[in-house]
Amino acid sequence: MPSVVKINVLTVSPEMREELERRFSGRAGVVESADGFEWFELLRPVEGTDRYMVYTRWRSEEDFKRWTESQAFQRGHAEAGGQGHGHGQGQGHGHQGPAASGAELWSFEVVQSTGPKSES
Ligand code: HEM
Repeated sequence: MPSVVKINVLTVSPEMREELERRFSGRAGVVESADGFEWFELLRPVEGTDRYMVYTRWRSEEDFKRWTESQAFQRGHAEAGGQGHGHGQGQGHGHQGPAASGAELWSFEVVQSTGPKSES
């Protein structure tokens, strides 16, 4: 079974960027312990978009779903602005969050993946 990639795409106004990054640097750090969690990256936009991406990769759709319904998800979003409990989809558009003003969830299946060849 392929892993799944879930990207939460955040709309952040220029004056809130620093605040968003500050929030993530103080993030709960509970996602690391979620069953089936494989990877997390906070991606700052440089060119082509002005939206931040919260990249996560999971062993399966079920593992991701279980995390979004867990206390760990709620804890990880305790400060996100009162709109972080909506599992992403369709939530957050136009709402007032202290950091992100909108959120959109993108889903992918990993078709191929690779890393650098090891030297040995
Ligand atoms: C519904 C709208 C959402 C908003 C506005 C939002 C925003 C945020 C913010 C500002 C933080 C930093 C922590 C904090 O301030 O409490 C955070 C943490 C995080 N968000 Fe979201 N988020 C949303 C939904 C989601 C979804 C659907 C995912 C799935 C990819 C996700 C993945 C994460 C992860 C992995 C963390 C770190 C949590 C930890 O350290 O345990 N978020 N989010």
